[in-house]
Amino acid sequence: MTARPLPDADATEAAGAALGRVVRAGDVVALCGDLGAGKTTFVRGLALGAGADADEVASPTFALVNEYAGRVVIAHLDLYRLERERELDDIGFDDLLDRPEVAAVIEWADRFAHRLPRDHLRIELAHAADARTLTATATGPRSAALLAAWTA
Ligand SMILES: Nc1ncnc2c1ncn2[C@@H]1O[C@H](COP(=O)(O)OP(=O)(O)O)[C@@H](O)[C@H]1O
Ligand SMILES: [Mg+2]
Repeated sequence: MTARPLPDADATEAAGAALGRVVRAGDVVALCGDLGAGKTTFVRGLALGAGADADEVASPTFALVNEYAGRVVIAHLDLYRLERERELDDIGFDDLLDRPEVAAVIEWADRFAHRLPRDHLRIELAHAADARTLTATATGPRSAALLAAWTA
């Protein structure tokens, strides 16, 4: 996908909402981008689009993972504060991703990229001085189908 402009925060949330309307249990979305790039804003939209109560959405700063119940369960992770890979095991990372009702959305997914399933939708939020953009990349057939449904 070519970089798509995100003129304001509403555009970031709307892009997330469109993805939330088509996300399925078993999907994994890896969000990458600097602090303030709009990752949590995107997840708020995604949760809303998936039918969850958007008021619930907050950065999973202390818990590292929040769950929002909608059409599917959105597991919202933020790996920013994770210091060691062992902590992924402490939060039950692999089991969480394996739960059949869960779609996982992971902020700072780059930090432990090797722990992501091979097939995931990578979303890069870029935060330049004058323009913000979103670039999505599918890494396998499942995420390719998700990307196609999202951009249809
Ligand atoms: N496309 C955008 N243009 C301008 N501001 C945005 C955009 N997307 C998000 N924001 C704002 O940027 C700030 C940081 O967003 P946030 O989602 O918390 O970033 P992150 O989770 O990547 O650290 C928020 O105030 C949010 O409203
Ligand atoms: Mg955030």
